Amino acid sequence: MASLIRNAQNTTKTPALPAILPKHVAIIMDGNGRWARSRGLPRSEGHRQGTENLRQIIRAAVEFGIEIMTIYAFSTENWGRPRREVQLLMRILEMVIDRELEELNGEGVQIRHIGELNGIEPRLQRKVREACAMTQYNQRLILNVAFNYGGRDEIIHAVKTLIASGIRPEEVNEEAVSSALYTHGLPDVDLVIRTSGELRISNFLIWQGAYAEYYATKTYWPDFDKEEFRTALFDYSNRRRRFGLTDDQLNDLADSDDDRTRG
Ligand code: FPP
Repeated sequence: MASLIRNAQNTTKTPALPAILPKHVAIIMDGNGRWARSRGLPRSEGHRQGTENLRQIIRAAVEFGIEIMTIYAFSTENWGRPRREVQLLMRILEMVIDRELEELNGEGVQIRHIGELNGIEPRLQRKVREACAMTQYNQRLILNVAFNYGGRDEIIHAVKTLIASGIRPEEVNEEAVSSALYTHGLPDVDLVIRTSGELRISNFLIWQGAYAEYYATKTYWPDFDKEEFRTALFDYSNRRRRFGLTDDQLNDLADSDDDRTRG
């Protein structure tokens, strides 16, 4: 009998995914440079390896059933980096579109761009627009690529859009602002992942992430693999999101939900 119980216990596997998944995951892919330096390699190699890793993580997101993923690829502040590195990051975006678009499209990934396209060279602007147009009806994963993106810029852009629409002051509310952001129509971020041990938000989705849960890891982005992604999802599923309420209030809400379900 004891051995039967032991065998039964041995076959109890850890579930492949938690029951509660975040709908919208945002990732700050940090640490490419340090990854390269720690191996005596040039920063460009870190970005190359980071790009390779991005492919794996997009595929994992599709497999895990994540609905929306937003990645921070180039911030408005990144223009201040050495010219060669800025050019490299532009080339990487172009290369990702050239090499990966067909496969991403086949996998049902809808690519969206968030940020300011003006300021980027016209040929790359055109490629980004084409990638978004080509994948616009895909449904499996919405992939927002934040490129030349800044959270404060986005809010300024939204305010200008609202003013231009002739909105009256009494009509300005959270819904109105959300509807004028680059992410309009999408739900707020549930989980923000930041690699490389930094504990900053760095002007990323500052409106949409107001109530997001955070997962910070010391792992550099090129080493953040599918298994650690899974760990982040389990970590998220164990959080209690309170949205500013108390635990008692949440318990009451859960009880009244149960009562309603029981009829
Ligand atoms: C931060 O690492 C990373 C970036 C600024 C760029 C992120 C880009 C990729 C992962 C490649 C994919 C890119 C596109 C355009 C799709 P860091 O360079 O700041 O690292 P460090 O803090 O260790 O120096």
